Amino acid sequence: MRSPKRWTQKAIRSMAHGVAASLLLLLLLQIPSSLSAGSAAHPAYADPASCAASSLDLDPMRGAEHDGAGGRILDITHAYREDMPSWESDEGLGRFVWLAKSMANGSQANNSDMKLPAHSGTHVDAPGHVFQHYFEAGFDVDTLDLHVLNGPALLLDVPRDKNITAEVMESLHIPRGVRRVLFRTLNTDRQLMWKKEFDTSYVGFMKDGAQWLVDNTDIKLVGVDYLSVAAFDDLIPSHLVFLESREIILVEALNLENVKPGIYSLHCLPLRLRGAEGSPIRCILIK
Ligand SMILES: *[C@@H]1O[C@H](CO)[C@@H](O)[C@H](O)[C@H]1NC(C)=O
Ligand SMILES: *[C@@H]1O[C@H](CO)[C@@H](O)[C@H](O)[C@H]1NC(C)=O
Ligand SMILES: *[C@@H]1O[C@H](CO)[C@@H](O)[C@H](O)[C@H]1NC(C)=O
Repeated sequence: MRSPKRWTQKAIRSMAHGVAASLLLLLLLQIPSSLSAGSAAHPAYADPASCAASSLDLDPMRGAEHDGAGGRILDITHAYREDMPSWESDEGLGRFVWLAKSMANGSQANNSDMKLPAHSGTHVDAPGHVFQHYFEAGFDVDTLDLHVLNGPALLLDVPRDKNITAEVMESLHIPRGVRRVLFRTLNTDRQLMWKKEFDTSYVGFMKDGAQWLVDNTDIKLVGVDYLSVAAFDDLIPSHLVFLESREIILVEALNLENVKPGIYSLHCLPLRLRGAEGSPIRCILIK
């Protein structure tokens, strides 16, 4: 059997190229301490006697706790859940990860498989999403500009009684030079991302609102708090307006609860899914 240390080093080497490498490394670097409590049979099976005493230490830290009092990092990504809403479905996302190989069934390690629509949960759209010629030319999520996805961003509240029209956009008075804006809407108040059933009455951009943004602002990253930047009634027209120039990146289904309006440092990293016009994305704000 390979020693836990060698296993960890090998894993680190092979994952160092991944986009989310730093997050994975954090997880991996915690492995040796839990391994050391293991029995001789398999280092990951805890010695039953030490189980009760160590169980407190083994509680995984969940996203929501990163933004505890005094925290500087706000996680604005929704965790993937079976009961999170999924596009035009009443059933929610459903099962998206399962153990393909498990220690309980005699495997050396637990290994999960996953399957999920590229546009589920907190995700990003690439130009190929609504333009066939961009799709064919390869404008997939791996071509999105990390300089647009990372940098100063403005979080603001939009009026709760309308979709985002040209009139609404104008009333927000977003200064020239602002390149990234996260729009918090009625969707957050209605907690739509916590309802399993897809809801077509969500707030989003109407075509004239998208056009106003393109014509009158310097915004290159548009973030919203439900599954689409475009209102359901203007679904394709608004996407076409945003994505035509290939300069604007759309980040959808952000979790903007419990965040004060203002300026933050935004950091968003999609997966490098070649050939995909959408991808799950991890987004954080740093105060
Ligand atoms: C592996 O998965 C099994 C379920 O098949 C679970 O009981 C066990 O706790 C897992 N082991 C580890 C080390 O995560
Ligand atoms: C283990 O194998 C049994 C029998 O093939 C199967 O029913 C069960 O779902 C498997 N469990 C896991 C966690 O893979
Ligand atoms: C926004 O538009 C949707 C249709 O796309 C509609 O159902 C909803 O009522 C509108 N919301 C508001 C606040 O006007």
